[in-house]
Amino acid sequence: MTDMLFFDGGLLTRATTLAYLAAGLLFILALASLSKHETAKRGNTFGAVGMLIALVATIALALGSEPGQGVLVTFLLIALAMGIGGAIGTVMAKRVEMTGMPELIAMLHSFVGLAAVLVGFNSYLAPDATAHALGTFHLGEIFLGIFIGAVTFTGSIVAYLKLSAKISGKPLTLPARNWLNLAALLVSLALMVVFMLTEEGSLLSWAALLAMTVIALLLGLHLVAAIGGGDMPVVVSMLNSYSGWAAAAAGFMLNNDLLIITGALVGSSGAYLSWIMCKAMNRAFISVILGGFGSDSSASAAGEGEEEGTIDEVDAAAVAALLSDARRVVITPGYGMAVAQAQYPVATLTEKLREKGVEVQFGIHPVAGRLPGHMNVLLAEAKVPYDIVLEMDEINDDFPEVDVVLVIGANDTVNPAAEEPGSPIAGMPVLTVWEAGKVIVFKRSMATGYAGVQNPLFFKENTSMLFGDAKGSVEAIIQAL
Ligand code: TAP
Repeated sequence: MTDMLFFDGGLLTRATTLAYLAAGLLFILALASLSKHETAKRGNTFGAVGMLIALVATIALALGSEPGQGVLVTFLLIALAMGIGGAIGTVMAKRVEMTGMPELIAMLHSFVGLAAVLVGFNSYLAPDATAHALGTFHLGEIFLGIFIGAVTFTGSIVAYLKLSAKISGKPLTLPARNWLNLAALLVSLALMVVFMLTEEGSLLSWAALLAMTVIALLLGLHLVAAIGGGDMPVVVSMLNSYSGWAAAAAGFMLNNDLLIITGALVGSSGAYLSWIMCKAMNRAFISVILGGFGSDSSASAAGEGEEEGTIDEVDAAAVAALLSDARRVVITPGYGMAVAQAQYPVATLTEKLREKGVEVQFGIHPVAGRLPGHMNVLLAEAKVPYDIVLEMDEINDDFPEVDVVLVIGANDTVNPAAEEPGSPIAGMPVLTVWEAGKVIVFKRSMATGYAGVQNPLFFKENTSMLFGDAKGSVEAIIQAL
Protein backbone atom coordinates (compact mmCIF):
# COMPACT_ATOMS: atom_id res chain seq x y z
CA MET A 1 0.00 0.00 0.00
CA THR A 2 2.81 2.38 0.95
CA ASP A 3 4.52 1.57 -2.32
CA MET A 4 1.37 2.27 -4.22
CA LEU A 5 0.81 5.56 -2.43
CA PHE A 6 4.34 6.81 -2.90
CA PHE A 7 5.15 5.47 -6.30
CA ASP A 8 1.93 5.24 -8.21
CA GLY A 9 1.77 8.86 -9.33
CA GLY A 10 -1.70 8.38 -10.86
CA LEU A 11 -3.38 7.23 -7.67
CA LEU A 12 -1.64 9.80 -5.53
CA THR A 13 -2.47 12.64 -7.89
CA ARG A 14 -6.13 11.61 -7.98
CA ALA A 15 -6.31 11.32 -4.18
CA THR A 16 -4.68 14.73 -3.84
CA THR A 17 -7.09 16.30 -6.32
CA LEU A 18 -9.99 14.87 -4.34
CA ALA A 19 -8.51 16.18 -1.08
CA TYR A 20 -7.98 19.62 -2.64
CA LEU A 21 -11.58 19.66 -3.83
CA ALA A 22 -12.81 18.80 -0.31
CA ALA A 23 -10.54 21.46 1.22
CA GLY A 24 -11.73 24.06 -1.33
CA LEU A 25 -15.37 23.31 -0.47
CA LEU A 26 -14.62 23.53 3.25
CA PHE A 27 -12.99 26.95 2.72
CA ILE A 28 -16.09 28.20 0.88
CA LEU A 29 -18.31 26.87 3.70
CA ALA A 30 -15.97 28.55 6.22
CA LEU A 31 -16.34 31.94 4.54
CA ALA A 32 -20.11 31.57 4.28
CA SER A 33 -20.40 30.61 7.96
CA LEU A 34 -18.08 33.38 9.16
CA SER A 35 -20.52 36.01 7.90
CA LYS A 36 -22.94 35.40 10.80
CA HIS A 37 -22.34 35.41 14.58
CA GLU A 38 -24.36 32.28 15.11
CA THR A 39 -22.34 30.19 12.66
CA ALA A 40 -18.91 31.86 13.00
CA LYS A 41 -17.48 29.16 15.30
CA ARG A 42 -18.56 26.43 12.89
CA GLY A 43 -16.93 28.47 10.10
CA ASN A 44 -13.62 28.42 11.96
CA THR A 45 -13.85 24.65 12.34
CA PHE A 46 -14.58 24.21 8.62
CA GLY A 47 -11.55 26.36 7.79
CA ALA A 48 -9.26 24.48 10.19
CA VAL A 49 -10.35 21.04 8.91
CA GLY A 50 -9.94 22.24 5.31
CA MET A 51 -6.43 23.45 6.08
CA LEU A 52 -5.53 20.16 7.77
CA ILE A 53 -6.71 18.18 4.72
CA ALA A 54 -4.79 20.56 2.43
CA LEU A 55 -1.60 20.20 4.46
CA VAL A 56 -1.73 16.40 4.62
CA ALA A 57 -2.47 16.16 0.88
CA THR A 58 0.30 18.59 -0.06
CA ILE A 59 2.85 16.80 2.11
CA ALA A 60 1.79 13.42 0.69
CA LEU A 61 2.16 14.80 -2.83
CA ALA A 62 5.59 16.26 -2.07
CA LEU A 63 6.76 12.96 -0.59
CA GLY A 64 5.14 10.90 -3.34
CA SER A 65 6.92 12.80 -6.07
CA GLU A 66 10.26 12.17 -4.35
CA PRO A 67 10.56 8.38 -4.35
CA GLY A 68 13.54 6.53 -2.93
CA GLN A 69 15.94 8.06 -0.44
CA GLY A 70 14.77 11.61 -1.19
CA VAL A 71 11.55 10.91 0.72
CA LEU A 72 13.21 11.01 4.12
CA VAL A 73 15.14 14.20 3.37
CA THR A 74 12.03 15.92 2.02
CA PHE A 75 10.03 14.76 5.03
CA LEU A 76 12.66 16.04 7.46
CA LEU A 77 12.88 19.39 5.68
CA ILE A 78 9.09 19.83 5.74
CA ALA A 79 8.92 18.78 9.40
CA LEU A 80 11.70 21.23 10.30
CA ALA A 81 10.09 24.14 8.44
CA MET A 82 6.67 23.38 9.95
CA GLY A 83 8.16 22.94 13.41
CA ILE A 84 9.94 26.32 13.33
CA GLY A 85 6.98 28.13 11.71
CA GLY A 86 4.46 26.49 14.05
CA ALA A 87 6.50 27.34 17.15
CA ILE A 88 6.90 31.01 16.16
CA GLY A 89 3.20 31.21 15.21
CA THR A 90 2.06 29.68 18.51
CA VAL A 91 4.19 32.07 20.59
CA MET A 92 3.00 35.10 18.57
CA ALA A 93 -0.67 34.09 18.76
CA LYS A 94 -0.45 33.54 22.53
CA ARG A 95 1.33 36.83 23.14
CA VAL A 96 -0.77 39.12 20.98
CA GLU A 97 -3.40 41.26 22.69
CA MET A 98 -6.72 41.68 20.94
CA THR A 99 -5.74 45.32 20.33
CA GLY A 100 -2.57 44.18 18.56
CA MET A 101 -4.41 41.96 16.05
CA PRO A 102 -4.50 44.45 13.15
CA GLU A 103 -0.72 44.85 13.12
CA LEU A 104 -0.20 41.10 13.48
CA ILE A 105 -2.49 40.52 10.51
CA ALA A 106 -0.65 43.18 8.48
CA MET A 107 2.63 41.44 9.34
CA LEU A 108 1.23 38.04 8.26
CA HIS A 109 0.11 39.53 4.94
CA SER A 110 3.69 40.63 4.35
CA PHE A 111 4.80 36.98 4.70
CA VAL A 112 2.35 35.92 1.96
CA GLY A 113 3.77 38.65 -0.28
CA LEU A 114 7.36 37.61 0.45
CA ALA A 115 6.48 33.95 -0.17
CA ALA A 116 5.05 34.83 -3.60
CA VAL A 117 8.25 36.74 -4.48
CA LEU A 118 10.46 33.84 -3.38
CA VAL A 119 8.30 31.26 -5.19
CA GLY A 120 8.54 33.44 -8.30
CA PHE A 121 12.33 33.63 -8.28
CA ASN A 122 12.54 29.94 -7.45
CA SER A 123 10.23 29.11 -10.35
CA TYR A 124 12.44 31.09 -12.69
CA LEU A 125 15.67 29.58 -11.45
CA ALA A 126 14.45 25.98 -11.20
CA PRO A 127 11.22 25.55 -13.16
CA ASP A 128 9.34 22.29 -12.82
CA ALA A 129 8.73 20.44 -16.06
CA THR A 130 4.94 20.94 -16.30
CA ALA A 131 5.16 24.66 -15.64
CA HIS A 132 8.10 25.06 -17.98
CA ALA A 133 6.15 23.44 -20.80
CA LEU A 134 3.81 26.46 -20.68
CA GLY A 135 6.67 28.61 -22.01
CA THR A 136 5.93 32.34 -22.29
CA PHE A 137 2.70 31.96 -20.30
CA HIS A 138 4.67 30.64 -17.35
CA LEU A 139 7.03 33.60 -17.62
CA GLY A 140 3.99 35.89 -17.39
CA GLU A 141 2.85 34.03 -14.26
CA ILE A 142 6.26 34.48 -12.68
CA PHE A 143 6.39 38.18 -13.51
CA LEU A 144 2.88 38.91 -12.20
CA GLY A 145 3.41 36.72 -9.12
CA ILE A 146 6.56 38.60 -8.15
CA PHE A 147 4.92 41.97 -8.89
CA ILE A 148 1.83 41.32 -6.72
CA GLY A 149 3.95 39.67 -4.02
CA ALA A 150 6.43 42.57 -3.83
CA VAL A 151 3.64 45.21 -3.62
CA THR A 152 1.93 43.17 -0.88
CA PHE A 153 5.21 42.65 0.99
CA THR A 154 6.29 46.28 1.41
CA GLY A 155 2.70 47.58 1.57
CA SER A 156 1.98 45.28 4.51
CA ILE A 157 5.18 46.28 6.29
CA VAL A 158 4.21 49.97 6.08
CA ALA A 159 0.68 49.07 7.27
CA TYR A 160 2.21 47.17 10.20
CA LEU A 161 4.40 50.16 11.12
CA LYS A 162 1.47 52.59 10.87
CA LEU A 163 -1.01 50.43 12.79
CA SER A 164 1.48 49.79 15.59
CA ALA A 165 2.25 53.55 15.70
CA LYS A 166 5.95 52.90 14.96
CA ILE A 167 5.67 55.49 12.19
CA SER A 168 3.23 58.37 11.86
CA GLY A 169 -0.23 57.50 10.58
CA LYS A 170 -0.27 60.69 8.50
CA PRO A 171 -0.49 60.14 4.75
CA LEU A 172 2.66 60.75 2.72
CA THR A 173 1.72 63.19 0.01
CA LEU A 174 4.52 63.36 -2.54
CA PRO A 175 3.96 65.85 -5.37
CA ALA A 176 2.38 64.15 -8.40
CA ARG A 177 2.00 60.95 -6.36
CA ASN A 178 -0.73 59.51 -8.60
CA TRP A 179 1.47 60.04 -11.65
CA LEU A 180 4.29 58.23 -9.85
CA ASN A 181 2.01 55.23 -9.26
CA LEU A 182 0.85 55.27 -12.87
CA ALA A 183 4.45 55.50 -14.12
CA ALA A 184 5.41 52.53 -11.91
CA LEU A 185 2.57 50.47 -13.44
CA LEU A 186 3.40 51.42 -17.02
CA VAL A 187 7.14 50.81 -16.65
CA SER A 188 6.40 47.42 -15.04
CA LEU A 189 4.14 46.54 -17.97
CA ALA A 190 6.88 47.44 -20.44
CA LEU A 191 9.38 45.36 -18.43
CA MET A 192 6.95 42.44 -18.53
CA VAL A 193 6.91 42.54 -22.33
CA VAL A 194 10.73 42.61 -22.38
CA PHE A 195 10.89 39.75 -19.85
CA MET A 196 8.48 37.56 -21.79
CA LEU A 197 10.05 38.17 -25.20
CA THR A 198 13.76 37.86 -24.38
CA GLU A 199 15.60 34.60 -24.03
CA GLU A 200 15.05 32.88 -20.68
CA GLY A 201 17.93 33.39 -18.28
CA SER A 202 19.57 36.07 -20.42
CA LEU A 203 21.05 39.15 -18.83
CA LEU A 204 18.31 41.34 -20.25
CA SER A 205 15.50 39.17 -18.87
CA TRP A 206 17.12 39.14 -15.43
CA ALA A 207 17.55 42.91 -15.57
CA ALA A 208 13.85 43.34 -16.44
CA LEU A 209 12.77 41.02 -13.62
CA LEU A 210 14.98 42.66 -11.01
CA ALA A 211 14.09 46.21 -12.09
CA MET A 212 10.39 45.37 -11.83
CA THR A 213 10.93 43.82 -8.37
CA VAL A 214 12.53 47.03 -7.11
CA ILE A 215 9.75 49.17 -8.68
CA ALA A 216 7.03 46.93 -7.18
CA LEU A 217 8.67 47.06 -3.73
CA LEU A 218 8.71 50.88 -3.91
CA LEU A 219 5.14 50.98 -5.26
CA GLY A 220 3.92 48.92 -2.27
CA LEU A 221 5.69 51.31 0.11
CA HIS A 222 4.24 54.36 -1.58
CA LEU A 223 0.69 53.04 -2.00
CA VAL A 224 0.20 52.41 1.71
CA ALA A 225 2.31 55.36 2.92
CA ALA A 226 -0.08 57.65 1.01
CA ILE A 227 -3.13 56.31 2.85
CA GLY A 228 -3.84 57.75 6.25
CA GLY A 229 -6.39 59.10 8.67
CA GLY A 230 -9.67 57.29 8.84
CA ASP A 231 -8.92 55.30 5.68
CA MET A 232 -6.68 52.80 7.48
CA PRO A 233 -9.53 50.26 7.99
CA VAL A 234 -9.65 49.80 4.24
CA VAL A 235 -5.89 49.24 4.08
CA VAL A 236 -6.12 46.12 6.25
CA SER A 237 -8.81 44.55 4.06
CA MET A 238 -7.14 45.77 0.86
CA LEU A 239 -3.84 44.10 1.77
CA ASN A 240 -5.81 41.04 2.78
CA SER A 241 -7.12 40.99 -0.78
CA TYR A 242 -3.65 41.58 -2.30
CA SER A 243 -2.22 38.73 -0.23
CA GLY A 244 -4.93 36.47 -1.67
CA TRP A 245 -4.00 37.39 -5.24
CA ALA A 246 -0.31 36.89 -4.37
CA ALA A 247 -1.14 33.38 -3.11
CA ALA A 248 -3.19 32.66 -6.25
CA ALA A 249 -0.24 33.80 -8.38
CA ALA A 250 2.03 31.45 -6.40
CA GLY A 251 -0.54 28.70 -7.06
CA PHE A 252 -0.18 29.25 -10.81
CA MET A 253 3.62 29.16 -10.58
CA LEU A 254 3.59 26.00 -8.48
CA ASN A 255 0.85 24.37 -10.51
CA ASN A 256 -1.19 23.98 -7.33
CA ASP A 257 -4.95 24.17 -7.86
CA LEU A 258 -5.80 24.51 -4.18
CA LEU A 259 -3.50 27.50 -3.77
CA ILE A 260 -5.20 29.13 -6.76
CA ILE A 261 -8.67 28.46 -5.31
CA THR A 262 -7.73 29.61 -1.81
CA GLY A 263 -5.90 32.66 -3.10
CA ALA A 264 -8.87 33.66 -5.24
CA LEU A 265 -11.25 33.18 -2.27
CA VAL A 266 -9.07 35.37 -0.02
CA GLY A 267 -8.52 37.89 -2.82
CA SER A 268 -12.17 38.32 -3.68
CA SER A 269 -13.48 38.24 -0.10
CA GLY A 270 -10.84 40.84 0.85
CA ALA A 271 -11.94 43.01 -2.07
CA TYR A 272 -15.57 42.65 -1.01
CA LEU A 273 -14.70 43.55 2.59
CA SER A 274 -12.82 46.63 1.34
CA TRP A 275 -15.96 47.63 -0.54
CA ILE A 276 -18.09 47.17 2.61
CA MET A 277 -15.60 49.26 4.61
CA CYS A 278 -15.63 52.02 1.99
CA LYS A 279 -19.41 52.03 2.03
CA ALA A 280 -19.38 52.22 5.84
CA MET A 281 -17.14 55.28 5.65
CA ASN A 282 -18.88 56.76 2.62
CA ARG A 283 -15.62 56.81 0.67
CA ALA A 284 -14.99 55.78 -2.91
CA PHE A 285 -12.58 52.85 -3.13
CA ILE A 286 -10.54 54.58 -5.80
CA SER A 287 -10.04 57.71 -3.67
CA VAL A 288 -8.86 55.53 -0.79
CA ILE A 289 -6.28 53.91 -3.10
CA LEU A 290 -5.20 57.29 -4.43
CA GLY A 291 -4.63 58.23 -0.79
CA GLY A 292 -3.75 61.54 0.79
CA PHE A 293 -6.96 61.60 2.86
CA GLY A 294 -6.66 63.39 6.20
CA SER A 295 -3.65 65.35 5.00
CA ASP A 296 -5.40 68.69 5.22
CA SER A 297 -3.93 69.05 8.70
CA SER A 298 -6.97 67.93 10.62
CA ALA A 299 -5.10 68.61 13.83
CA SER A 300 -5.20 72.37 13.34
CA ALA A 301 -8.68 72.44 11.80
CA ALA A 302 -10.43 70.57 14.56
CA GLY A 303 -7.63 68.96 16.40
CA GLU A 304 -6.61 67.81 19.77
CA GLY A 305 -7.06 70.11 22.69
CA GLU A 306 -9.30 72.59 20.93
CA GLU A 307 -12.01 73.43 23.46
CA GLU A 308 -15.51 73.70 22.15
CA GLY A 309 -17.42 74.59 25.34
CA THR A 310 -17.88 73.22 28.81
CA ILE A 311 -18.22 69.61 29.75
CA ASP A 312 -20.31 67.93 32.41
CA GLU A 313 -18.58 65.28 34.53
CA VAL A 314 -20.39 62.50 36.40
CA ASP A 315 -19.38 59.68 38.72
CA ALA A 316 -20.23 55.99 38.59
CA ALA A 317 -22.93 56.23 41.30
CA ALA A 318 -24.83 58.88 39.33
CA VAL A 319 -24.65 56.75 36.17
CA ALA A 320 -25.91 53.72 38.12
CA ALA A 321 -28.90 55.74 39.34
CA LEU A 322 -29.60 56.96 35.82
CA LEU A 323 -29.48 53.41 34.44
CA SER A 324 -31.79 52.09 37.15
CA ASP A 325 -34.46 54.58 36.09
CA ALA A 326 -34.04 53.98 32.35
CA ARG A 327 -36.38 51.88 30.23
CA ARG A 328 -34.16 51.54 27.21
CA VAL A 329 -30.33 51.67 27.16
CA VAL A 330 -28.00 51.39 24.16
CA ILE A 331 -24.28 50.69 24.51
CA THR A 332 -21.99 51.84 21.68
CA PRO A 333 -18.54 50.35 22.25
CA GLY A 334 -15.34 51.44 20.49
CA TYR A 335 -11.62 50.90 20.48
CA GLY A 336 -11.30 51.98 24.15
CA MET A 337 -13.40 48.98 25.25
CA ALA A 338 -10.83 46.73 23.57
CA VAL A 339 -7.90 48.60 25.20
CA ALA A 340 -9.48 48.38 28.63
CA GLN A 341 -10.66 44.76 28.06
CA ALA A 342 -13.96 46.04 29.45
CA GLN A 343 -16.15 43.59 27.53
CA TYR A 344 -16.53 41.25 30.53
CA PRO A 345 -17.84 43.85 33.03
CA VAL A 346 -19.92 45.31 30.16
CA ALA A 347 -21.53 41.86 29.72
CA THR A 348 -22.17 41.66 33.47
CA LEU A 349 -23.68 45.16 33.50
CA THR A 350 -25.95 44.19 30.59
CA GLU A 351 -27.12 41.10 32.42
CA LYS A 352 -27.82 43.04 35.63
CA LEU A 353 -29.81 45.73 33.82
CA ARG A 354 -31.81 43.16 31.88
CA GLU A 355 -32.64 41.40 35.16
CA LYS A 356 -34.03 44.73 36.38
CA GLY A 357 -36.28 44.89 33.32
CA VAL A 358 -34.23 47.50 31.40
CA GLU A 359 -34.08 46.90 27.64
CA VAL A 360 -30.37 46.86 26.67
CA GLN A 361 -29.01 46.80 23.12
CA PHE A 362 -25.64 47.34 21.49
CA GLY A 363 -25.03 49.59 18.48
CA ILE A 364 -21.98 48.54 16.48
CA HIS A 365 -20.34 50.85 13.96
CA PRO A 366 -18.76 48.95 11.03
CA VAL A 367 -15.30 50.47 11.67
CA ALA A 368 -15.41 50.59 15.49
CA GLY A 369 -12.12 49.37 16.97
CA ARG A 370 -9.22 48.51 14.72
CA LEU A 371 -10.41 45.43 12.87
CA PRO A 372 -13.51 44.53 10.88
CA GLY A 373 -15.86 42.90 13.40
CA HIS A 374 -13.58 43.83 16.34
CA MET A 375 -16.44 44.73 18.71
CA ASN A 376 -18.54 41.72 17.68
CA VAL A 377 -15.66 39.39 18.53
CA LEU A 378 -15.12 40.99 21.95
CA LEU A 379 -18.83 40.88 22.83
CA ALA A 380 -19.15 37.28 21.65
CA GLU A 381 -16.10 36.40 23.79
CA ALA A 382 -17.88 37.89 26.82
CA LYS A 383 -21.04 35.93 25.89
CA VAL A 384 -23.30 38.91 25.21
CA PRO A 385 -26.42 37.45 23.48
CA TYR A 386 -26.20 37.97 19.68
CA ASP A 387 -29.77 39.13 19.28
CA ILE A 388 -29.18 42.36 21.22
CA VAL A 389 -26.06 43.29 19.22
CA LEU A 390 -27.25 45.46 16.32
CA GLU A 391 -25.48 47.02 13.36
CA MET A 392 -25.39 50.82 12.99
CA ASP A 393 -28.06 50.81 10.27
CA GLU A 394 -30.38 48.75 12.44
CA ILE A 395 -30.25 51.07 15.45
CA ASN A 396 -29.56 54.57 14.13
CA ASP A 397 -33.22 55.55 13.67
CA ASP A 398 -34.07 54.43 17.22
CA PHE A 399 -31.90 56.86 19.22
CA PRO A 400 -34.67 59.45 19.82
CA GLU A 401 -36.54 56.72 21.74
CA VAL A 402 -33.51 55.67 23.81
CA ASP A 403 -33.22 56.95 27.39
CA VAL A 404 -29.47 56.47 27.96
CA VAL A 405 -26.58 55.74 25.62
CA LEU A 406 -23.31 54.46 27.11
CA VAL A 407 -20.45 55.37 24.75
CA ILE A 408 -17.76 53.01 26.00
CA GLY A 409 -14.36 53.90 24.53
CA ALA A 410 -15.79 55.06 21.20
CA ASN A 411 -14.94 58.42 19.69
CA ASP A 412 -14.75 58.82 15.88
CA THR A 413 -17.70 56.49 15.36
CA VAL A 414 -20.01 58.74 17.44
CA ASN A 415 -18.60 62.08 16.26
CA PRO A 416 -21.25 64.57 15.04
CA ALA A 417 -18.43 66.48 13.25
CA ALA A 418 -18.84 63.87 10.49
CA GLU A 419 -22.02 65.68 9.53
CA GLU A 420 -20.20 69.00 9.04
CA PRO A 421 -18.76 69.67 5.60
CA GLY A 422 -15.04 70.41 5.73
CA SER A 423 -14.34 68.10 8.68
CA PRO A 424 -11.67 65.47 7.95
CA ILE A 425 -14.25 62.76 8.68
CA ALA A 426 -17.06 64.55 6.78
CA GLY A 427 -19.45 62.14 5.13
CA MET A 428 -18.59 59.14 7.33
CA PRO A 429 -21.87 57.74 8.67
CA VAL A 430 -21.80 57.74 12.48
CA LEU A 431 -23.97 56.47 15.33
CA THR A 432 -26.28 59.43 16.08
CA VAL A 433 -26.12 58.87 19.85
CA TRP A 434 -26.74 62.58 20.67
CA GLU A 435 -30.39 62.12 19.63
CA ALA A 436 -30.97 59.99 22.76
CA GLY A 437 -32.22 61.44 26.06
CA LYS A 438 -28.84 61.20 27.83
CA VAL A 439 -25.34 60.21 26.68
CA ILE A 440 -22.56 59.03 29.02
CA VAL A 441 -19.08 58.97 27.47
CA PHE A 442 -16.54 56.62 29.08
CA LYS A 443 -12.92 57.65 28.41
CA ARG A 444 -9.76 58.60 30.25
CA SER A 445 -9.17 62.13 29.00
CA MET A 446 -10.30 64.65 26.40
CA ALA A 447 -7.97 63.10 23.81
CA THR A 448 -9.21 62.71 20.25
CA GLY A 449 -9.88 59.35 18.57
CA TYR A 450 -7.97 57.62 15.79
CA ALA A 451 -8.71 60.28 13.14
CA GLY A 452 -7.42 63.09 15.40
CA VAL A 453 -10.65 65.08 15.18
CA GLN A 454 -12.15 66.88 18.20
CA ASN A 455 -15.58 65.54 19.16
CA PRO A 456 -18.41 68.10 19.71
CA LEU A 457 -20.48 65.31 21.31
CA PHE A 458 -18.54 65.78 24.58
CA PHE A 459 -19.80 69.38 24.86
CA LYS A 460 -23.47 68.74 24.14
CA GLU A 461 -26.03 69.57 26.79
CA ASN A 462 -27.30 66.00 27.16
CA THR A 463 -23.77 64.51 27.38
CA SER A 464 -21.85 63.74 30.57
CA MET A 465 -18.30 62.44 30.77
CA LEU A 466 -17.31 59.55 33.03
CA PHE A 467 -13.52 59.79 33.11
CA GLY A 468 -11.31 56.78 33.86
CA ASP A 469 -10.36 53.40 32.47
CA ALA A 470 -13.51 51.90 30.92
CA LYS A 471 -13.16 48.60 32.81
CA GLY A 472 -12.84 50.31 36.18
CA SER A 473 -15.74 52.65 35.42
CA VAL A 474 -18.09 49.83 34.41
CA GLU A 475 -17.10 47.78 37.46
CA ALA A 476 -17.79 50.80 39.69
CA ILE A 477 -21.27 51.15 38.14
CA ILE A 478 -21.97 47.45 38.75
CA GLN A 479 -20.95 47.94 42.42
CA ALA A 480 -23.20 50.95 42.75
CA LEU A 481 -26.13 49.11 41.19
P1 TAP B 1 -11.45 55.79 18.42
O1 TAP B 1 -11.93 56.92 17.61
O2 TAP B 1 -10.16 55.16 18.08
O3 TAP B 1 -11.38 56.30 19.94
C1 TAP B 1 -11.15 55.42 20.99
C2 TAP B 1 -11.32 56.19 22.29
O4 TAP B 1 -11.16 55.25 23.33
C3 TAP B 1 -10.28 57.26 22.47
O5 TAP B 1 -10.86 58.52 22.34
C4 TAP B 1 -9.70 57.00 23.87
O6 TAP B 1 -9.80 58.19 24.65
C5 TAP B 1 -10.62 55.93 24.44
N1 TAP B 1 -9.86 54.96 25.23
C6 TAP B 1 -8.68 54.37 24.96
N2 TAP B 1 -8.33 53.55 25.94
C7 TAP B 1 -9.30 53.61 26.86
C8 TAP B 1 -9.49 52.98 28.13
N3 TAP B 1 -8.61 52.11 28.65
N4 TAP B 1 -10.62 53.27 28.81
C9 TAP B 1 -11.53 54.16 28.31
N5 TAP B 1 -11.38 54.77 27.15
C10 TAP B 1 -10.29 54.50 26.42
O7 TAP B 1 -12.52 54.61 18.52
P2 TAP B 1 -13.73 54.18 17.59
O8 TAP B 1 -14.89 55.07 17.82
O9 TAP B 1 -13.87 52.72 17.83
O10 TAP B 1 -13.27 54.45 16.10
C11 TAP B 1 -12.37 53.62 15.42
C12 TAP B 1 -11.40 54.45 14.60
O11 TAP B 1 -10.33 53.61 14.18
C13 TAP B 1 -12.04 55.02 13.36
O12 TAP B 1 -11.46 56.27 13.05
C14 TAP B 1 -11.64 54.00 12.30
O13 TAP B 1 -11.63 54.55 11.00
C15 TAP B 1 -10.24 53.64 12.75
N6 TAP B 1 -9.76 52.33 12.29
C16 TAP B 1 -10.63 51.30 12.26
C17 TAP B 1 -10.20 50.07 11.78
C18 TAP B 1 -11.23 48.99 11.68
S1 TAP B 1 -11.10 47.94 10.52
N7 TAP B 1 -12.22 48.91 12.53
C19 TAP B 1 -8.86 49.88 11.40
C20 TAP B 1 -7.96 50.96 11.49
C21 TAP B 1 -8.44 52.18 11.95
P3 TAP B 1 -8.84 58.41 25.91
O14 TAP B 1 -7.45 58.27 25.42
O15 TAP B 1 -9.18 59.79 26.38
O16 TAP B 1 -9.20 57.39 26.91
